[in-house]
Amino acid sequence: MKTFDTVAGLKAHLKAHDGLTKGFVPTMGALHQGHVSLVSKAISQCPVVTVSIFVNPSQFNDSRDLAKYPRTPEKDLALLSEVLRESDAVFIPPVHEVYPEEDTRTFDFGDIDKVMEGAHRPGHFKGVAQVVSRLFDIVEPDIAYFGEKDFQQLVVIKKLVTITGSRVQISGCPTVREPDGLAMSSRNMLLSPEHRIAAGIIYRSLRQSEEVFRKEGIDAAREFFRSGVESAGGFRMQYYEVADDINLTAVSNPGDFVSGRNYHICTAVYAGEIRLIDNIKISLE
Ligand code: PAJ
Repeated sequence: MKTFDTVAGLKAHLKAHDGLTKGFVPTMGALHQGHVSLVSKAISQCPVVTVSIFVNPSQFNDSRDLAKYPRTPEKDLALLSEVLRESDAVFIPPVHEVYPEEDTRTFDFGDIDKVMEGAHRPGHFKGVAQVVSRLFDIVEPDIAYFGEKDFQQLVVIKKLVTITGSRVQISGCPTVREPDGLAMSSRNMLLSPEHRIAAGIIYRSLRQSEEVFRKEGIDAAREFFRSGVESAGGFRMQYYEVADDINLTAVSNPGDFVSGRNYHICTAVYAGEIRLIDNIKISLE
């Protein structure tokens, strides 16, 4: 693999592979097996893959969150060197390479960037959309890979591609979990040892709450989930919603499901100071 920290360097590398299908995996580093699963899928489908590592300041609505976001560049490059091939690239730019001037673009996503994460992290998806569209302009991928772990982000990116008329194909990839069910996340390494031991409760309670939702609807399911996760000391539920995969419209019970859509239970939970998100797809049998 080759490593670039300038747009010009990366573009020259990609030009040398003109005509081949290009895959792209954007990340913020502190890589784990969830990221690796995206990279592996890209490698299996594309002869040239670019992985970006860029902690994008504009998507952090909280400067303390940005300051404490884990950064492990040496480890990341070592991990990627085990999976990437000669034709693949890592793009690890400084901020001024990505934003030579301030990005003031806004995108009209309708309601999808205003609910759930959007409601609790104002400006977050504006920043995500800015950086992803900027990175798409630089890399010009055929296929870009995003995790279902960040379900709302995946929906927003699909919409971004539609409204900008981009030709990039978006590939969603399943959530990779720890043995206790905790969704892998760069933020997991910030958990206290006690919170890490208890954190499997989030996925377990999500799964159990699906049945409650089916039988009794959203309010009962939310309260079931809240009391489940909050039985672990220091855990606090922030939101719990059931939403579809196109408009993220919240639904109150399975009777409201529209055929042809998938529905996910989505949540954000604080474990101490650390904010974790997760979601599961509701099975429609
Ligand atoms: P980051 O949190 O580093 O995630 C990079 C990609 O990996 C995202 O598409 C995310 O959904 C995926 N991912 C994270 N954990 C995963 C898991 N456990 N299983 C499967 N996929 C997982 O998401 C971002 O960075 C940024 O917002 C970014 C898109 C790079 C824009 O800055």
